[in-house]
Formats: sequence, structure tokens, C-alpha cells
Amino acid sequence: MEIKEVVREKYGQAALRVHSGGSSCCGAASAMDGCCDPITSNLYDSAQTGAVPEEAVLASLGCGNPTALAELKAGETVLDLGSGGGIDVLLSARRVGPTGKAYGLDMTDEMLALARENQRKAGVANVEFLKGEIEQIPLPDNSVDVIISNCVINLSADKDRVLGEAFRVLKPGGRFAVSDVVTRGEVPEEVRQNMLMWVGCIAGALGDDQYVAKLAGAGFEGIDIEPTRVYNIEEARTFLSGQGVDVDAIAPQVEGKFMSAFIRATKPARMQV
Ligand SMILES: C[S@@+](CC[C@H](N)C(=O)[O-])C[C@H]1O[C@@H](n2cnc3c(N)ncnc32)[C@H](O)[C@@H]1O
Repeated sequence: MEIKEVVREKYGQAALRVHSGGSSCCGAASAMDGCCDPITSNLYDSAQTGAVPEEAVLASLGCGNPTALAELKAGETVLDLGSGGGIDVLLSARRVGPTGKAYGLDMTDEMLALARENQRKAGVANVEFLKGEIEQIPLPDNSVDVIISNCVINLSADKDRVLGEAFRVLKPGGRFAVSDVVTRGEVPEEVRQNMLMWVGCIAGALGDDQYVAKLAGAGFEGIDIEPTRVYNIEEARTFLSGQGVDVDAIAPQVEGKFMSAFIRATKPARMQV
């Protein structure tokens, strides 16, 4: 619970910074520059950023571009877990068109307010932002065609529950199409134990093999993890130093082990009885 409260507080502040024109970066205040720019910047092409309000772009705190990689069809229902300022929801709404629907789910009031304001500015009707937690999705069973998410599942302390809930709300044959930070190989304990890094970008991430196992455990099939950005230690230096970490000492253990990835999986079209 403590982790969730810290996460909520951080993202509430990040949402307010968009209003005040400040940085919306996701890490600890003193260590933002090194943390997030390599992770959150330049994720969307100009056609995408031009299609949504500027505040939705400024509030973007993801680590990938799930809407570019997910297959979305006209008329489908999409759900974005941890929708933040709403950029991926607004982009999805355009892709599924007026006969489809895009839901955003977020637990932070300030983010929901920002997302709803962005929806109003974008003038899209087929969007609904829901307040709630990704560990307890406020939608019925078998009601969603595609679940997207952008750098949120790594923030949850109960990933099994999140994946179980994603499976529950997806229709049979529904797709899980998520960007998230994952680790590969052994990760230094100092990194995992640091609460602010957890809240920021990295420490709560699953290993890629753990992610596959958890998705399979939830019932998914056709699981695939495709790295989209691999981070190097220099990109993380400012952030890690700000946490009091001896960067040079841990550098060999970090290199090549932290990445953003696009994670695909499918709920079986026919459930086994
Ligand atoms: C890193 S930001 C990503 C926002 C958005 N997906 C984007 O790409 O800009 C994380 C968002 O997830 C929300 N969040 C984090 N943990 C959550 C949880 N357990 N349930 C619901 N929302 C959560 C935060 O409030 C925040 O808006």
C-alpha cells in the first residue's frame, strides 16, 4: 500500500507540473534529467503528436508507443492501464473510430483531470477515463478487445493480479499489447531495493522470463517480448548518482540489462474447460 501511495503522490505532482509548464518527467524530483529523458522522450512521431493536444504530449510518461505497435481495428474496445495524461487513449480512439471505444484507467485524480481536459481539447467522444486501480479493473469480464499500457505495470507491487485482471476483462481472442520496462539477466540488489527507482522507471520491473511466466500463469498464449530501447549506464548515471549509487561499481552489472519492451500476448479464443 505504501508503494501505491508514493506512486499516486508522484504522478499527481507530475500532472500538476504539466499545468504549470514544468517538466513532467517521472523520476525523483532531484534526479529527473538523467532518469527519464532517454526513456520517455521521442516516443511518438510528428503525425501522432500533431493529432493530440500539446498537454497530452507534455504529460507523456511512457517508455514506448503501444498504439504504434498494437493492431487496432475500427469498432474495437481498447483499455489503457494507467492512462496518465491520456495520449495513448486519444490515439487509440482515433484508430478504433466512432464505432469503437477507448477507455483509460488511472488511480490518480490529477492525472484523470488532465486526461479529461485533454479529451475535451481533442474533441473526441468515444473516450472514457475511469478512476480505479489496475489491480482491480472496473470493467466486466470479456468486455475489451485490446489492452494497452505504457510503463505502468512495472509500478505495481502485485503484477500477478494486474495480469489476472487484464485476462479477465479481455474478450476471448483479445490482445494484450503493452510497453513496459523489463530487465534481462541478474539485476543488482541495490537497484531493486531503491524505492525511488521503483517509483521512477526501473526497480519494479520484471525480468523478461518472469514476465513470460506470469502471463502464461494468467492464461495467456502467443507471448512475445520485443525490446524497443535498451538503456546504457551513461543514460542512467545522473539518476543513479542522485540515489547515492556508486555508478562505476555497478556499471558492469547494469549494462544491457534494462530495456523498454513491447509485450504481446493473447487470451485464447476458446477457453479450455
Ligand atoms: C509512468 S506514468 C504513465 C502514464 C501514461 N501511460 C503515459 O504513457 O504517459 C504511470 C501512470 O500510471 C498510474 N498508475 C500507477 N500505478 C497505478 C495503479 N496501480 N492503478 C492505476 N493507475 C496507476 C499513475 O497514476 C500514472 O498516471
